[in-house]
Amino acid sequence: MLYSSLLRPLLFRLPAERAHNLTMAQMRMLQSTALGRSLLRSFVGNIAPKPVNAMGLTFEHPVGLAAGLDKNAEAMEGFFALGFSHVEIGTLTPRPQPGNPQPRLFRLPEDQAIINRMGFNNRGAENAALRLAQRSHRWKIVGGNIGKNKDTPNEQAHEDYLLAMQALHTHVDYFTVNISSPNTPGLRDLQHEAALKSLLEAVATENKRLGAKPLAVKIAPDLTQEEVQNMARLAAESGFQGIIATNTTIGRNAPNTSQERIAAIGAGGLSGRPLTQKSTEVIGWVKEAVGDHLTIIGVGGVFTAQDVTDKRNAGADLVQVYTGFVYQGPSMVKQLQASWKNG
Ligand SMILES: Cc1cc2nc3c(=O)[nH]c(=O)nc-3n(C[C@H](O)[C@H](O)[C@H](O)COP(=O)(O)O)c2cc1C
Repeated sequence: MLYSSLLRPLLFRLPAERAHNLTMAQMRMLQSTALGRSLLRSFVGNIAPKPVNAMGLTFEHPVGLAAGLDKNAEAMEGFFALGFSHVEIGTLTPRPQPGNPQPRLFRLPEDQAIINRMGFNNRGAENAALRLAQRSHRWKIVGGNIGKNKDTPNEQAHEDYLLAMQALHTHVDYFTVNISSPNTPGLRDLQHEAALKSLLEAVATENKRLGAKPLAVKIAPDLTQEEVQNMARLAAESGFQGIIATNTTIGRNAPNTSQERIAAIGAGGLSGRPLTQKSTEVIGWVKEAVGDHLTIIGVGGVFTAQDVTDKRNAGADLVQVYTGFVYQGPSMVKQLQASWKNG
């Protein structure tokens, strides 16, 4: 209530990236004291545990924060206080990079959507590792979403994933190999079979050497059924435990936003309401291909208990949110997880 009637109108008056930075600054401040954390918890109230065993980990309940919001692992404690069972940090690249020029983040309120072309702006995996080393919530789950630097050619991409993994390995509970952002030129080419096989095998081998953590791969919604199913089978064969479906789409199905506005925004990935059905369809394809062999984390346009139920019925074991959280605020975590019936 407080969010939709007061905070959101204020935040939405600011340019999207400024609102994001301001929110993150508030989160950092609030999480740093016991009083601040209890204020954050008071937004949510008590969350009844609904444990989910997946990828060899026990999640307190199925609702987590998707990658991209806390890229640098700065506000995990705050997001845990807001009730998320897991926070996926990143995407982190081995070297820091600024990302694309601003503006690069746009709201489409008529469609409850966002278009972004951030381009993996982040302070680098080692910088995040410094903060992760101090984390106190060892019982909460942190996923490390890793990617390659923009200026690393695809032929050497696997080296970047291994470097990021090495930096984060002792600090995170699972890894997500992100090959599906539309905002790093050529990244999605890594989803093609030969490149994917060698990348996933390199990551799995290094992960074993470092002391095996669960591995997931995050896929795009802009793939055919056959491509999705081949990727899912390959991930299982390469020793991965999970698939995250899906990242943002390069499609522009935002019927309530004018064509002029869409054209003026330009390139980027679309998320939120327009992605709900598509990502649920992709989850169904993954489930059909790999059955219970992989954990499926469903992401894309989750706003309501019905969206969670639909993703669960399609095969998701866990869900993550990003855009729905921007539009609905903290109370949604409790609402979503309350709709999840155990068993
Ligand atoms: C501003 C923004 C930045 C994002 N950055 C990342 C990222 O760095 N890595 C990643 O794997 N996904 C990233 N995502 C994708 C989300 O994690 C999620 O997969 C996608 O937005 C669909 O979920 P949603 O409809 O709930 O937002 C980003 C999304 C947004 C809106």
